[in-house]
Amino acid sequence: MIDSAPEKKLQEFEERIARGEKIEPGDWMPDEYRRQLIRMISQHAHSEVVGMLPEGAWIPHAPNLRRKMVLMAKVQDEAGHGQYLYHAAETLGISREEMLDALLAGRAKYSSIFNYPTLAWADVAWIGWLVDGAAIKNQTMLAQCSYGPYSRAMVRICAEETFHYKQGKEMIVKYMTTGSDAQKAMVQDGLNRWWWPMLMMFGPHDSDSPNSPVLMRWGIKTRSNDDLRQEFINEEIPEVLALGLTIPDPDLLFDETSKTWQIGPINWDEFWQVVRGNGPMNAERLAARQKAHDDGRWVREAVAAYAEKVASSKYASGK
Ligand code: 3HC
Repeated sequence: MIDSAPEKKLQEFEERIARGEKIEPGDWMPDEYRRQLIRMISQHAHSEVVGMLPEGAWIPHAPNLRRKMVLMAKVQDEAGHGQYLYHAAETLGISREEMLDALLAGRAKYSSIFNYPTLAWADVAWIGWLVDGAAIKNQTMLAQCSYGPYSRAMVRICAEETFHYKQGKEMIVKYMTTGSDAQKAMVQDGLNRWWWPMLMMFGPHDSDSPNSPVLMRWGIKTRSNDDLRQEFINEEIPEVLALGLTIPDPDLLFDETSKTWQIGPINWDEFWQVVRGNGPMNAERLAARQKAHDDGRWVREAVAAYAEKVASSKYASGK
């Protein structure tokens, strides 16, 4: 629902977006633009932070020191992405506490993909290649979005995600070209489990995407869910097949006329179950976040006490 802002302000706002100008925190914006951004950026921030869990679980089990160092750096990057995004959302007038409360109370959404388990080491590689690859596809679009703080956060996040993508792909290529039969089987099993959830990450079909029209009108999204999903499929399927892997889709075909890959139907019932909190790992993910939040209470209290002390000593000294 578009708010009842005076027509003139709305018109100027839309003209700025049409000229490619960025909207900045102090600028006038429709209430609905602010609401949509808070919704999307906070969901995105939660996704980054919850997204640390499936891969973080494998840090103690990495097969060698190099892989362990890379994985630790990657998981730490995701924490940083969460920070940039919570900051970007805060510029719109919501507090960090409100966002975290919504996540921990189960009121906030975060990406469906992180509610699936990482059962084998190759899952870490597939998250790097396909999950981070899908995220980059979406985030490269968002780097062009009309809201300045979100767009700038995306530029940096995409640069880091590119390393994540490459390390995942490097692992899959290595296991498939020089690995043992057991490693190849592990990679295929991971693909079988991550393929469909990865395609769901892009969100529902355009016809079932209630937020897209207003997001596209105001330059938050500039490309649709289906458009990005299709481009990703077209780019990645040949690379996956070239390694001798099988994509778990009996309906998959290459359409010679449109030169695009056509996939079978996505199981949207499964997607909505996961989004509504009934996925294989939803409860475990939220419990892990709650524990981290509780364990970090003493840090928040120490920081607040220090800030209070500094403020009162400045006041006492008149500075
Ligand atoms: N997981 C969970 N919920 C999803 C979803 C998904 N994959 N896709 C859509 N939804 C939800 C939407 O949030 C919306 O619910 P809401 O109105 O209650 O908020 C509902 O389903 C309908 O979907 P829409 O298509 O109307 O929603 P959007 O227009 O917002 O499009 C989106 C969905 C493409 C995910 C968009 O929100 C977006 O681009 N978000 C920012 C990017 C992001 O959050 N990415 C998450 C992954 S980040 C990541 O993977 C971290 C990396 O380090 C790996």
